[in-house]
Amino acid sequence: MEPSVRQRGRSTSKTVQEQLPSQQSTSGKAGFRLKYVILFLCLLFTAIFLGTYFLLGAIGIGYDTLSSGILPSNLKGHFAKGDEIDLSKPKDDLPAKAKPSLKQPNSKALPLPTIVWWTDKLFPHFQGQNTVKIECEPHQGGLGTCLVTTDKNVLSDPLARGVMFYGSDFRAYEAPLPRQPWHEWALLHEESPLNNQIFSHDVMMSQFNHTSTFRRESHYPITTQHINNLEYFTERKPFPLNVKNQHREKLAPIVYIQTHCNVPSDRDRYVKELMKYIDVDSYGKCLNNKKLPESLRDPVESMEAKEFHDFIARYKFHLAFENGICEDYITEKLIRPLHVGSVPIYRGSPSVKDWMPNDHSFILADNFDSPQKLAEFIKGLDKNDKEYLRYLEFKDKGIDNELLRDTMAKRVWGVNEWRKPSFINAFECYLCGRIVERLEAEQAHERDPSAPLLPPSMANGNHVGCPEPTVSFGDISGVARGEDIHFWKEDYWGSKDQAVALKRMIDRGATDSSKLFEELQKMFAEGLLESG
Ligand SMILES: *[C@@H]1O[C@H](CO)[C@@H](O)[C@H](O)[C@H]1NC(C)=O
Repeated sequence: MEPSVRQRGRSTSKTVQEQLPSQQSTSGKAGFRLKYVILFLCLLFTAIFLGTYFLLGAIGIGYDTLSSGILPSNLKGHFAKGDEIDLSKPKDDLPAKAKPSLKQPNSKALPLPTIVWWTDKLFPHFQGQNTVKIECEPHQGGLGTCLVTTDKNVLSDPLARGVMFYGSDFRAYEAPLPRQPWHEWALLHEESPLNNQIFSHDVMMSQFNHTSTFRRESHYPITTQHINNLEYFTERKPFPLNVKNQHREKLAPIVYIQTHCNVPSDRDRYVKELMKYIDVDSYGKCLNNKKLPESLRDPVESMEAKEFHDFIARYKFHLAFENGICEDYITEKLIRPLHVGSVPIYRGSPSVKDWMPNDHSFILADNFDSPQKLAEFIKGLDKNDKEYLRYLEFKDKGIDNELLRDTMAKRVWGVNEWRKPSFINAFECYLCGRIVERLEAEQAHERDPSAPLLPPSMANGNHVGCPEPTVSFGDISGVARGEDIHFWKEDYWGSKDQAVALKRMIDRGATDSSKLFEELQKMFAEGLLESG
């Protein structure tokens, strides 16, 4: 065997060697001239290339190599947030040699720790850019330099460390499998369980390494996402009480404006019941009984407009019912009435008082045994000016709440503030910082095994953890089969089954998450499904 292989090899190389000279010899003098033509062309091209090189250098578009040897320096100092690197297509406007060599998808040569936006609709960089270098400083959320990309092909690269998910767009049957040991999953979820109940389950949450959610327990909490700044609570003074009382001749004591009906918190059943005992002006789609003035009809445009605020500020009370009941899930439904100086009647986060201006600035619906009892209380307050005004004292006295003051003072991100990053960009930088930190510990450990590695980072149920949806009042047995609350309960358990199926697939190294439904069928056969 061996000799024949070697012989074949030798004979092949011999033919190649023999072919070249024989070609040259057969073409005789033409071949001789050709040699000089090629040499001349080579020199010409070298001259052109060097000329271009030095010319570009002189006008400041030269390049050198980064430590990783890949990125052109003309982009280097320039890669602030928002600058693009294309991992797949060559850049036409760069000298040939300066083109980054990490062009191919699946490149083994990511130059920097990289965050892949798996759900990419929220990719927080200029549209059309799919790979951007971010240089993060602590005041932006974290310390480190990373690439962020929507290019999913890089996931097999060991420097593709972070995988970013926007909660509302996350689907277990689209999860990035196989999950490599270096993949750190990061969850950004500021929405309610209305959008995705899968995060209500420990089994799902423990798959994430880094979280940014409305829960204060998450790694990078965004509980105050609907509070522009502390002044937002107090800057606008309420209408004087005599003005509000005058309006009461034509208006109900309570206003309700909701366009999203039949949500997991079962709020519309509650409000409908409440309406039997006290007048509620309802301008939204849900339980509508009044029309908004024409000028206020566009909800996106007008909900934060002064005109709209003036309109709702005439009401003494506001129904502020969240669409899902989760600890720390607090939205503009609650913050807006506080801003305009109307007393919120709140149903939502059980610990909401921790984020309120003071302990007497809101009314908790759940403190009353029934909607009827709540109605009686509001009627009493409507007639008692002195008691009513106590709820608005914070407007003059300011914010007592230490936790709120402290959290707002330390917050590095802003809400629509051009000087501060959004919480999306801030979490991206936080993640970058954590990834770089771990990577550096690994590198130090490689050089000196006595240097410690970092312990794993994992989330748990407390980082979202919304309980199973339940009735807003009364007993579930009294609620008709067709009511949505039954659907939300089903959905809750169905999402848990999906989370379990995904974990089983991750644990055995499955590579195709679209097979999730087959996994669910297997679980069904094994009697493991919790949903009906
Ligand atoms: C990330 O989370 C997974 C699942 O909980 C865990 O196995 C892994 O060790 C974590 N990785 C890091 C770097 O913390």
